[in-house]
Parts: sequence; C-alpha cells; structure tokens
Amino acid sequence: MGGRAWTVDLAETSALEELSEETGVPDADILVNNAGVQRVSPLHEFDPEAWRFMHRLMVESPFLLIRAALPGMYQRGFGRILNISSVHGLRASAYKSAYVAAKHALEGLSKVTALEGADHGVTSNCLNPAYVRTPLVEKQIADQARLHGIGEDEVVERIMLTESAVKRLVEPEEVASLATWLASDAAGMVTGTSYAIDGGWTAS
Ligand SMILES: NC(=O)c1ccc[n+]([C@@H]2O[C@H](COP(=O)([O-])OP(=O)(O)OC[C@H]3O[C@@H](n4cnc5c(N)ncnc54)[C@H](O)[C@@H]3O)[C@@H](O)[C@H]2O)c1
Repeated sequence: MGGRAWTVDLAETSALEELSEETGVPDADILVNNAGVQRVSPLHEFDPEAWRFMHRLMVESPFLLIRAALPGMYQRGFGRILNISSVHGLRASAYKSAYVAAKHALEGLSKVTALEGADHGVTSNCLNPAYVRTPLVEKQIADQARLHGIGEDEVVERIMLTESAVKRLVEPEEVASLATWLASDAAGMVTGTSYAIDGGWTAS
C-alpha cells in the first residue's frame, strides 16, 4: 500500500495538538482509534493520575486524531472513523471506573463525529467487544485473580464469561472482520452507531 509506520505515545496528547494535513500525519482515509489500557481498582482507591492517563489515551487522543484527520477526509469526500470501544462503552462493571467512563465518552465523541461528518462522506462508528483474547485481557485475568483472591482459570469462567450468553472469549479476527466491513463502501449508510460483539451480554 506504500504506507509508513508512525511511532507515537498517544498519551502525550499535547504533541498531538499540532497534527495537521501539512504534517502529513494522520493523512488517512480510515482512522481506527484502538489504543487502550485497563486498570482495575475500587473507586475510592483509584489513583487520580491513572484516571487522567486513561482519559488522555482513550478519549483525548481519539479526539485529537479525529480532529487532525477530518480535514483531509472532508477534502476527499470520504472517510471512515472506527472507534474501538467496548461492551464497557454500553455497560458498567465494578472496579473499572476509569475504563467505563472513558469508553462511554468515546461513544459520545463517535456520535458527534458521525453527525458532523455526514455531509462529507465520513462515517463514525463504535465496535463494542466483550472480552477478546489479547494481551490486555491476559493481564486483566492476573489482576482480577489477585483482587478477588481466586485462580486465573476461575476468573475467565466466573467473572469474564458470566454476562455473555456465548461462553467463550471473542477472537481478534472477529473484531477485525467487523472493522473491515465498516470501512467498506457497503457500510456507507452505517454511522453514529455501536456494534456489540459480546456473545449476547447486552441482550439481557
Ligand atoms: N481485549 C479485550 O477484551 C477488549 C474488549 C473490549 C475492548 N477492547 C479495546 O480494544 C482496544 C485494543 O485492546 P487490546 O485488547 O488489543 O489490548 P492490547 O494491550 O493487546 O493492545 C493495546 C494496544 O494499544 C497500544 N497502546 C497502549 N498504550 C499506548 C500509548 N500510550 N500510545 C500508543 N499506543 C498505545 C499498544 O501498543 C497496543 O498495540 C483497546 O481500546 C481496548 O480497550 C479490548
């Protein structure tokens, strides 16, 4: 495709304010806001700096990247913004206040992007997976085991899969497949919405 990699710490949001079409970053037809981390802690013990860090990375940086990408998309009359939200953009879980609040904020940002982009061929949508088999979840399994004082295999069965009707983790390929469709011309009329890939979690 002739693309090039851009290495950046997306939590350093002040550096992202200067991005523009002139700097060539991010000059893209498709923007996937994917970077995210998880911290698990009761609200009354939640480290304020960890909270701010997560909101910089998962809310402020998507805002700044969308802000920088839109002018080029508007010029070309085409754009796809894919926001990797979570089932926690639609539902809450104990001990995940920063994550749940950040993902709910991303949902709002995505909807506003959809409204403003509508006349320019730009769509914006959220993808909302339940637990996906990735390093982020592997770390969480260990954290949750410590917090609840149970074994790691019990965490998957008793905590992660409790809400899901389909009792297995989501595979990364299943999220990628939805992203590919949302980025296609076929999804031009799909905007401002959120797609749960949660094995039925939000159905109940
Ligand atoms: N794994 C899940 O169960 C799950 C479920 C729902 C939503 N999500 C969301 O999917 C997205 C991807 O998560 P994942 O499970 O692949 O996690 P992961 O830990 O495997 O990957 C996270 C990615 O974010 C990048 N990243 C983290 N901090 C960064 C920073 N400061 N600057 C630049 N990049 C940074 C990492 O390099 C990595 O590529 C996240 O937004 C996460 O919230 C994951």
